[in-house]
Amino acid sequence: MTAGTVERYSLIDCQPPRQDTVQEVLVGLSRTPKHLSPKLLYDADGSALFDAITRQPEYYLTRAELSILSGIGTDLESLVDSDAVIVELGSGSGEKTRHLLGMLPTAPAYVAVDISATALDGALDSLADEFPGRRFIGMVADYLAPVALPPEIEDRPKLYVFFGSTLGNFEPPEAIEFLHRMALSLDPDDALMIGIDLKKAHARIHQAYNDASGVTAAFNCNILNRINRDCGANFDLEDFHHEAEYQPEHGRVAMFLVCHRTHTVNVAGVEILFDAGERVTTEYSYKYSMDEFYALARQAGFSPVRSWTDSGETFSLHYLAPDLA
Ligand code: AVI
Repeated sequence: MTAGTVERYSLIDCQPPRQDTVQEVLVGLSRTPKHLSPKLLYDADGSALFDAITRQPEYYLTRAELSILSGIGTDLESLVDSDAVIVELGSGSGEKTRHLLGMLPTAPAYVAVDISATALDGALDSLADEFPGRRFIGMVADYLAPVALPPEIEDRPKLYVFFGSTLGNFEPPEAIEFLHRMALSLDPDDALMIGIDLKKAHARIHQAYNDASGVTAAFNCNILNRINRDCGANFDLEDFHHEAEYQPEHGRVAMFLVCHRTHTVNVAGVEILFDAGERVTTEYSYKYSMDEFYALARQAGFSPVRSWTDSGETFSLHYLAPDLA
């Protein structure tokens, strides 16, 4: 781990070594069906494209979550310890954090954990300007792996936040494992606030992942640029197209890159065969009913304390307490 100080906030680099990425890509591409980890979607370009997705008219998730956040200030202040540090997993652009920091004026510090150093820099730079007097720390890390917080933060009560329904990008057993690991690491006065996308009309979900401007398609295809750069591969983006479908039997959106012609691609010196019509899975995005999510949270060792939804009941926010007594 290396540490550097960038003026009004500190950035701690806990990135996985590059070799891990190469190995992960090769293992995923040697499976049947082929699979790429969704975390590969978030290089600098991918994070910027995801940001653009959140502004597409079809992508209701971000607007719905922001509308919930903007209405729960008093409720939240009464739940959260007044000197709790906010620790956000997968912080992205920091737009929701802005609301949260505004609602919790006594929170002394904010720690953002994100795989993209560029996204962290952009978010922390403007948040530190907007909220002077608080401490800002960015950790460039894969939050799927346990992340050790700086000791002076670890000793305080913490409000972990995991917005955006990112938990939906885990398969349910992984989601339970991830939350369970978290529940085990939390102190009794810590809490977790988590955003979860809800089940709804299939067409609405389908459109959210197939926006008319093609931003989601560009986001998905960018994973190949990233692999070309970081794993010395020679994917031609013209050979693949984006596909996303809602699979009601699984309660999830599945996102694929579909190959147009049979050919081989060289990835880090290994020749990999792609068949015409073959689909490479790049992401799942699970949707839950409120009851399904409560069951999942309880199974993982959390107890639901308070939940909120937007007026259209498209999205939900949950305040959970660790419950492993
Ligand atoms: C980050 N995550 C919750 C987004 C989602 O909706 O599953 C990623 C995304 N994929 C396509 N569009 C947005």
